[in-house]
Amino acid sequence: MRVLVVGSGGREHALVRSLLADPSVTEVLAAPGNAGIADEVPVFGVDLSDADAIAALAVELGADFVVVGPELPLSVGAADAVRAAGIPCFGPSREAAAIEGSKAFAKDIMASAGVPTALAHICSDLARVEHALDEFGPPYVVKADGLAAGKGVVVTNDRMVAIEHARSALIDAAVLVEEYLDGPEISLFAVTDGIDLVVLAPAQDFKRVGAQDTGPNTGGMGAYSPLPWAPPDLIEVARERVLEPVIAEMAHRGTPFAGLLYAGLALTSRGMRVIEFNARFGDPETQAVLARLESPLGELLYAAATGQLAQAEPLRWSKSAAVTVVMAAPGYPVAPALGAAITGTEAAKALPDIAVLHAGTARSGADEQLVVAGGRVLSVTATGTDLGQARDRAYAGVELIDFAGAVVRPDIAERAAAGLISGP
Ligand code: AMP
Ligand code: GLY
Repeated sequence: MRVLVVGSGGREHALVRSLLADPSVTEVLAAPGNAGIADEVPVFGVDLSDADAIAALAVELGADFVVVGPELPLSVGAADAVRAAGIPCFGPSREAAAIEGSKAFAKDIMASAGVPTALAHICSDLARVEHALDEFGPPYVVKADGLAAGKGVVVTNDRMVAIEHARSALIDAAVLVEEYLDGPEISLFAVTDGIDLVVLAPAQDFKRVGAQDTGPNTGGMGAYSPLPWAPPDLIEVARERVLEPVIAEMAHRGTPFAGLLYAGLALTSRGMRVIEFNARFGDPETQAVLARLESPLGELLYAAATGQLAQAEPLRWSKSAAVTVVMAAPGYPVAPALGAAITGTEAAKALPDIAVLHAGTARSGADEQLVVAGGRVLSVTATGTDLGQARDRAYAGVELIDFAGAVVRPDIAERAAAGLISGP
């Protein structure tokens, strides 16, 4: 099987790695990829917002199977276009991907399916926003109703900050004002063919840019798996109360969701609540989760893409723990500065049980110098017998890598490794 991976982040680098390790996969190609992916497999330029161009490339390359990583191509119908060209594709249809792209749509699905989530008001003007803020009280949660890569959300105790965020978001779309959910957050991924689903090992993401959850939200600054503090019935409860009802509701509406359903969950004092859904693998959680998956990834995703998950073997997981630490560009997430030279990746790669996964990297000049080319630059992922060892190994890798102004959170998996519950 010749597989084309679409995307250019750390998530796609991890997908490429895991697919290369699957004996049923003979060849992996990527589009557009990044400098690290290009070191391992052939890469081809493509516009991620052009569904037809992605499908045409898959045909031209003779791909037997396409795996779409990011939300942007899914939201413009890349999976539909690939399937229309006769190639199986892992990724939901444009209509189903709206569970990520429209928070209002996600709330509507959850209301119909009886899935517990934060109470919310969808507001189209500032007067309604102010009314909703006062109804829920602080901390205030204001979300733009569109794709924002985790950056369209503001959680603040400052009413003026909440109003300002709503004012700028209202220029493009409606905003959601939500009740604040307390308790630790979990990222849970379900691989589904639209009917059956297979739940992957849970992970935790670190959304804020600064240590101890300070500063603005980002796409994610680090992750770890497993979660030693999570309740033993976590997956069972999430499956019954969240994942199965949503998959059933999407099928019932005639827009079945086939692909990766990512549930962002809060374990509140009142029980499990959905914070958000994404229509794709999380980044950087995927880097940590796939580091522990022993079953062949290509077979799993192909079974989901071809409606055969009911026959899939149960997944095998390594007993090791995995920690991913993101290295971001200076100024991330507000205004990342690009172009700095990156050194030390080869030295870091030589450490034990480590993977230096690339995201925003490129080669520049005659000497092909590795340079910063995006907000999140690298995600250094390590495994170990427990979270403490995995963490030490990941940070040892980060220590060896250098670029001017690198932004790194020092506390990824710190509390969990110390035996504490992790969360806000
Ligand atoms: P979202 O884009 O909806 O995932 O939100 C990004 C992040 O904002 C989440 O991972 C949470 O950390 C935070 N957040 C979103 N909604 C809420 C909420 N209702 N209560 C508390 N925190 C939230
Ligand atoms: N790490 C959060 C996300 O992928 O949306």
